[in-house]
Amino acid sequence: MKVDVLTIFPEFFGQVFEFGIIRRAKLARIVEINVYDIREFATDKHRMVDDRPFGGGDGMVLKPEPIFAAIESLLGTSDKADYPSGTRVVLLTPQRLQLKQPVAKSFANETDHVVIICGRYEGVDERVNEVLVTDEISIGDYVLSGGESAAIVMIDSIVRLLPGALGSETSAENDSFSRGILDYPHYTRPAEFRGMSVPDVLLNGNHAEIEKWRREMALNKTRTNRRDLLEGDNGDM
Ligand code: ADE
Repeated sequence: MKVDVLTIFPEFFGQVFEFGIIRRAKLARIVEINVYDIREFATDKHRMVDDRPFGGGDGMVLKPEPIFAAIESLLGTSDKADYPSGTRVVLLTPQRLQLKQPVAKSFANETDHVVIICGRYEGVDERVNEVLVTDEISIGDYVLSGGESAAIVMIDSIVRLLPGALGSETSAENDSFSRGILDYPHYTRPAEFRGMSVPDVLLNGNHAEIEKWRREMALNKTRTNRRDLLEGDNGDM
């Protein structure tokens, strides 16, 4: 998979993709992540990327020209009807569909090229949305200063689902949400720590019992922390 990030703050991404699973996936060429400065695509004298909103109001709005130019340079067209199959252009914005596990899965399974436009909270010229963007995505009901931190969250959630990205093929299936419920509790050595013991069932080597216990614990935790997941509202698309 190729992921291209368009941002006015490329330095923001510094080392974030250089750790753990994402780093390993990059080294194994499971994913390629490129960060592009939107300013590089501005052609006016001052390389302007934003401007005041028509109609007045606070803040600045990201201009359409450099974003159109960036998409044309990456995809060879600025009409979403002509994008190659398997290509999606995402605008990160607090105003849309929330990123949930099924959304991450659909990106991991159905795309091989994702372009992510990091909006600023003041806004992005609506023509970008109308013509270029295939998916508007929010990472949650709160307002960030920009889409950069949201892009990192989104990329992480997708890359770990790509085949081969995790050490064991089953680990992602066991993640919280992947089965529509939360994860069971985990323990490691020592079996006894400051008077707190690891549940006996985990120490007796009976795998059927361990599975049953984990399932019960996962359901209990889901019932207590996220009852909505059991009521069918698990974000499935
Ligand atoms: N940009 C600003 N807030 C955001 C959010 N919650 N999700 C995605 N992009 C954003």
